[in-house]
Amino acid sequence: MSEAQWTAVDRYVTELLIAPDPSLEAALRASEAAGLPTIAVSPSQGKLLQLLARTAGARRILEIGTLGGYSTIWLARALPADGRLVTLEANPAHAEVAAANIARAGLDHVVQVRLGRATDALEQLAAEGTAPFDLVFIDADKPNIPAYFEATLGMSRPGSLIIVDNVVREGGLLDAETDSPDIHGVRRLHELLATDVRVSATTMQTVGSKGYDGMLLAVVND
Ligand code: SAH
Ligand code: DHB
Ligand code: MG
Repeated sequence: MSEAQWTAVDRYVTELLIAPDPSLEAALRASEAAGLPTIAVSPSQGKLLQLLARTAGARRILEIGTLGGYSTIWLARALPADGRLVTLEANPAHAEVAAANIARAGLDHVVQVRLGRATDALEQLAAEGTAPFDLVFIDADKPNIPAYFEATLGMSRPGSLIIVDNVVREGGLLDAETDSPDIHGVRRLHELLATDVRVSATTMQTVGSKGYDGMLLAVVND
């Protein structure tokens, strides 16, 4: 079994089940043209996020790590007309590309891109007394994942869904001896959740056009 096969199956599934969306494709093209790293979620992962948001009946979504707004558009399309998505991005060039992509998708009235480090933006959101988010997608710098998880828990309600991207890292999750701060981040999250009664969580390993990785899903308990 190889990455080429995972990619071929991903392409097959995408061609059959995922309708072409000009604004999502334009967002990827514009992101690439602007030199952004090609690390957005895959189409099948984007659709999964959208299905989860629909299933959750999400009306308020928080995203940490916007990049070019590709996952943002997938998620925002799950919202009702009066829904809201706040997405946090530290890199001004990324935020600018994302804002243009989001506007082209006709979602600028739904999505707010907040420029700045997520730690600061989360503090600010909390200080504003923002209403709880129904769904959170954590996909920024990996060493800060435990801090982001804790902060977003404070902005959620029982039943809120928190999704964390890139938690398996080609199995690096198992490497207790690693000096990678990214892997420390995802290992620490799992260790913390092992004894955290506030959420019920699992991690799904994934393969596909983005290689071997995984997402953690956590639902906030009553
Ligand atoms: N969710 C996007 C991919 C995000 S890539 C998608 O799937 O389409 C990670 C993004 O997080 C990058 O754009 C990076 O600039 C941003 N980022 C990194 N560190 C950050 C921080 N401390 N605060 C906010 N954003 C950060
Ligand atoms: C990286 C970050 C991501 O959010 C992702 O989905 C894949 C890779 C990275 O920083 O390498
Ligand atoms: Mg990611």
